Amino acid sequence: MSDSKINYRDGDAFTRISKRAGYRSRASLKLKEILKKDILIRKGMSILDLGSFPGGWTQVIKENIGNNGIVVGVDINNIKTIKGTFFIHKSITELEENDFQEFIDKIPFDLVLSDMAPNISGVRETDDALMINLVDSALSVIDHFLKKGGSTLIKVFQGESLDYTRNALSNRFKTCKASKPSASRSNSKETYLIGKEFK
Ligand SMILES: C[S@@+](CC[C@H](N)C(=O)[O-])C[C@H]1O[C@@H](n2cnc3c(N)ncnc32)[C@H](O)[C@@H]1O
Repeated sequence: MSDSKINYRDGDAFTRISKRAGYRSRASLKLKEILKKDILIRKGMSILDLGSFPGGWTQVIKENIGNNGIVVGVDINNIKTIKGTFFIHKSITELEENDFQEFIDKIPFDLVLSDMAPNISGVRETDDALMINLVDSALSVIDHFLKKGGSTLIKVFQGESLDYTRNALSNRFKTCKASKPSASRSNSKETYLIGKEFK
């Protein structure tokens, strides 16, 4: 099925398409869509992929960075190795410079992505608070490991965590905009914020 023929409300269609293309998650299609419209990955870039399990985003990034670029995934869930990529099996709250020794010449990173999500409780206030906690951890990683002039892409929920993150990114980046890919389920509260030109 071509992209233009996908019924965008049919979440299962995206799952089938991503599987057929060899991706580990339908999330890979969301990133591909965002990359087409809103953020560029160039060959040779160094990219940190926060909340990378099972590896769909890492696969898409690897396709775009060429042989001189690097992608480093981080997750509390271990992943099956993806050839030519790095993975750190720990919570991002515990990341330290030592974890990057193997490719120390490639940091700070050009781009920090976060597709992290908390375990959803279904209670809006609780879920917003959990997401804001994750965002705070991602912001701390950005402050320590993102290059001046670099970019970020962060998943949030519409509502409190979106407002919170937009504000935090506007203080740190020259521009901040939202992007909601069609591959995201229409009933999902998730949306993505993009910050460019880290100050
Ligand atoms: C939606 S999934 C990511 C999917 C992934 N981008 C892909 O394309 O396959 C969200 C991930 O965030 C991870 N996560 C949540 N909290 C985390 C934390 N504190 N540190 C690292 N990863 C975390 C979860 O374990 C989960 O695997």
